[in-house]
Amino acid sequence: LSSNYLDILGSQKLSGHIRVSGAKNSSLVLMVAALLTDSSVFLSNVPLLSDVESMSKILLSMGLKLRRNQNQLEIITSGLSLFSKNLSCEVFHELRASFFCIGPLLARFGEVKIPLPGGCRIGARPIDEHIQGLRALGAIVETKNEYVVAKTISPQKRLIGARIKFNCKSVGATETILMAATLAQGTTILENAAQEPEIQDLAMMLNEMGAKIQGAGTSQIKIEGVDHLNGCSYTVMPDRIEAGTFLVAAAITRSPLTLSPVIPEHLETVILKLQECGCLIECKGDTLRIIPRKNLQAVDIITSPFPGFPTDLQAPFMALMATVKGISKIEETVFEDRMQHLREFQRMGAKILLDGNTAYVIGTNNLKATSITGGDLRSCAAMVLVSLAANGTSVVRGLEYLDRGYEDFAGKLNAVGANISKVYSIPLASDECD
Ligand code: EPZ
Repeated sequence: LSSNYLDILGSQKLSGHIRVSGAKNSSLVLMVAALLTDSSVFLSNVPLLSDVESMSKILLSMGLKLRRNQNQLEIITSGLSLFSKNLSCEVFHELRASFFCIGPLLARFGEVKIPLPGGCRIGARPIDEHIQGLRALGAIVETKNEYVVAKTISPQKRLIGARIKFNCKSVGATETILMAATLAQGTTILENAAQEPEIQDLAMMLNEMGAKIQGAGTSQIKIEGVDHLNGCSYTVMPDRIEAGTFLVAAAITRSPLTLSPVIPEHLETVILKLQECGCLIECKGDTLRIIPRKNLQAVDIITSPFPGFPTDLQAPFMALMATVKGISKIEETVFEDRMQHLREFQRMGAKILLDGNTAYVIGTNNLKATSITGGDLRSCAAMVLVSLAANGTSVVRGLEYLDRGYEDFAGKLNAVGANISKVYSIPLASDECD
């Protein structure tokens, strides 16, 4: 863990407007989709995140060139060469989305050897749906040590369209197979496909490149394979999870805030839950305005794949429920180990009981500031939020997680009245051993 941390003065009222950045989980897969063409891809509204830096390193390691100017990213793919079949491990271990590259590389070159993925520790994060899908498209896929090795069976080194039914709704597997299928011979039908908005964003960009995809965003997607994809220019959609995190920041401090740009239908269940607990939320075009009542009520949530309540907002929502009257039941059904923030909230005086993957949160209005540490990207954001509501000054560690998924999180909150300072400290000798 880096020794830098945030000092957060609690019970500040917020007010004003927060600009929402481009979606992290869309940007990452759109960068991977650039591997499907030998022309250039120009992305706008790409957030400045360490995960985007990591993905950039991965593309550079395959011989691509990138030109970055603020939130604009040009990916020049002409340098992509066959040597990319054998990729180096450490840069792939940094993030989960690195594995999604297997789809485009196999579709273009007919063979690829790719390191197993890394990513936040929120569960086993298996890749069996990705592997089954590629096998269904006519590839031999094996796991050897730290690598997955894949090779097309057909002599033309092309994948063959197929009907594929996923056993579980997986965002990454749907994206990997969707990308691979765009260059397969014939038609592919995906059933039980994930419906997250990021998949619609990906399909829209792929169709811009010349792919023939219908049904993205529903559980059945049809892809007619083509021989070649062109480059394109594409603007990343706004980040629904960042927007949801800031809606919770407004609710947890009982402050009115406006956010834009937002696509309201990407946040329907989140908006309904916040309204149910006592927040007034108005949508005007791409702007959301939230006005929380003083006394909010506990509500129950169950996370589930889109259009259900997003697992990525479970930790932030638990932070909110720790501060409202009543008992909230929070059930995490997507990842098996995504409750590590619970112990940190308890250390601030939150009353939470955990039964398997269900947390019972008994709200209180006297959380006490203390030093807490985030273990994954969204739990770290949740710790900043709960610190905004605590009495006193909290210390939040784990900033490298925060920087993975939130562009200038503290800066955006300070701009609407929070009092968060980033403290740069060198690790003391004792710190090094803990
Ligand atoms: C994506 O991860 C997101 N990451 C995650 O966001 C997000 O939490 C998750 O989707 C769910 O919405 C990116 O898009 C880069 P999954 P992904 O495959 O694709 C099981 C964040 O904080 N599964 O939809 O890895 C899996 O174990 C990150 O921004 C299999 O069983 O998630 C999990 O229980 C965290 N086999 C469930 O599906 C597989 O082959 C959902 O995982 C793949 C997944």
